Amino acid sequence: MSEADVVTYTVRGRAAVLTINRPEKRNALNGPVRCAFVGAIDRARRDEAVRAIVVTGAGDKAFVAGADIGELEGRTAVDQWRTMKAPTIYESIERSPKPVIAAINGYCLGGGLELALACDLRIASSNATFGQPEVNLGIIPGGGGTQRLPRIVGLGAALRLILTGELIGAEEALRLRLVEEVVAPGDLMERALALAETIASRSPVAVAAAKEATRAALDLPLAQGLALETSLFQVCFASADKAEGIRAFLEKRPPNFTGR
Ligand code: COA
Repeated sequence: MSEADVVTYTVRGRAAVLTINRPEKRNALNGPVRCAFVGAIDRARRDEAVRAIVVTGAGDKAFVAGADIGELEGRTAVDQWRTMKAPTIYESIERSPKPVIAAINGYCLGGGLELALACDLRIASSNATFGQPEVNLGIIPGGGGTQRLPRIVGLGAALRLILTGELIGAEEALRLRLVEEVVAPGDLMERALALAETIASRSPVAVAAAKEATRAALDLPLAQGLALETSLFQVCFASADKAEGIRAFLEKRPPNFTGR
């Protein structure tokens, strides 16, 4: 398999679908996958036909079963330090102005769960399994799990998953608000694409600004978060999308947003 094929890029409607494609290794994240994934997110950012991104795993067993454990063997602290200087899949998702939806179709473990946590929305199939099993390997989550998981599910549930390494099913993940929705396996892509299409029908300028402002709520003190909201609100007023959205409402017709 060539490097380009380890993450496939297809456009469905106005969504780019990024599929991590190592099903024989449960889509584990190795160097080539990480590199191709960051490139694919950037490609989607530049692709004018694309307004939202869906991330999934190839095959019916795994979304992503974590970092490639084979790669970790023999890796020194210095090797790991250098590796972690590369642009990360997690930050590429968070920085993407186009919302990223995780369509979780099986094992979602370790770095796979961290990838899902970095996404803006998480839809799981009913056969998905979640966990941060790193403590079984003598390491801790290193892709942001210790920081993003408690921000999403709260400290207690995060500590339970991270300290025990135990796996949970989709219904438990829904109860913890780790995922937004659980659907039948056969409906997963259709549901993720429907969500992507709904987002694609809105103003791209407003969607990108809303993502940035809302995500900042978890990082910034309230006064700074409100100041960011105010400045992004004002940016919207400089957009053709705002003029179109308001005019379309007053003219009782659907808006035609251009993202300008
Ligand atoms: N890294 C590297 N290879 C992995 C992998 C990972 N994270 N997860 C699975 N694989 C490989 C297996 O080694 C196996 O390869 P092989 O066929 O060459 O022996 C192949 O994928 C299939 O895995 P297998 O364990 O036979 O499949 P399964 O469906 O019975 O179990 C898992 C799937 C995901 C439960 C199990 O593979 C597992 O526990 N993986 C590790 C999860 C983990 O600890 N992730 C955190 C890493 S930091």
